[in-house]
Amino acid sequence: MRIAMNYRHIYHAGNFADIAKHVGLLYCLDALKRKDSAFFALDSHAGRGFYDLQAPEAHKSGEAERGIQRLIDRGIDEPALALYFAAIHARRGKRLARYPGSPALISAGLRAQDRALFVELLPAEARAAEREIESLGRVRTEIGDGYASLKAFLPPDERRGLVLIDPPYESLDELKSMLQSFAEAHRRWPNGMYLLWYPIRSAGQRSMVHSRFEALRIPKMLCADLAIHPDDAGIGLAGSGLLLVNPPYGADGYLQEAYAAIHRAVATPGAGYVEVTRLTPERMAQ
Ligand SMILES: C[S@@+](CC[C@H](N)C(=O)[O-])C[C@H]1O[C@@H](n2cnc3c(N)ncnc32)[C@H](O)[C@@H]1O
Repeated sequence: MRIAMNYRHIYHAGNFADIAKHVGLLYCLDALKRKDSAFFALDSHAGRGFYDLQAPEAHKSGEAERGIQRLIDRGIDEPALALYFAAIHARRGKRLARYPGSPALISAGLRAQDRALFVELLPAEARAAEREIESLGRVRTEIGDGYASLKAFLPPDERRGLVLIDPPYESLDELKSMLQSFAEAHRRWPNGMYLLWYPIRSAGQRSMVHSRFEALRIPKMLCADLAIHPDDAGIGLAGSGLLLVNPPYGADGYLQEAYAAIHRAVATPGAGYVEVTRLTPERMAQ
């Protein structure tokens, strides 16, 4: 496969969208651990293990400064974010030196019986993930196409677990590729928990994305949207969207509360919103 990609997550690590996505991911991992039986986690667009927030790229974009650093400064006491702050090792009044990517968060959440697979297209990022994450034999990193991995590795033997699909949205047909791959993965494994991240760039684009999800006619879809700029401000990323399929019990209320706390700390004053809504019912009508 030819790699023609400019995207480097180091510019965006620890921004408000990473925060929103990781808060949802940690809630789902925590819910899976409510039962003793083993689970499997597949992270199809994994990135690396940790991101150095002192790197020139992170300084240049300033996204972590306006994201995670601001959240620590203003929101460290928010009860709904306690799980998240513990997982990223945030401390009151301290600057965060490195930000954990999804593979680091997932692997830290595994128990002896659980397993995870991280798939990443860029060899350097995949190798960094392999180097930086303590495996203890429970995790594997593959260099390759995340969409192909959904076909190759689902359903897992464990029959319970989650799939995170977090592509860079650099190409115009990324949403189409993601929807097709997700629909196929869901046919193979309808009981898995899925988390799909999507950008919010304008009000029209957001409702188009919701309609495309709904059109799949898959039950139990929950959308958690957090915008920190006006939808139509013309700023590249106005908001962060997370589609959860088969969300764990309590996710709606939890995400509403956690996202409201993030919004209070990092949003442009008076702008944006939090909207956590069920997109499809428990069962689809025939
Ligand atoms: C948004 S970043 C992932 C961030 C990571 N999931 C996290 O939460 O820390 C998207 C990643 O997908 C990788 N990528 C792009 N196209 C891919 C593909 N087809 N298959 C797997 N990885 C891909 C990029 O190199 C980048 O590291």
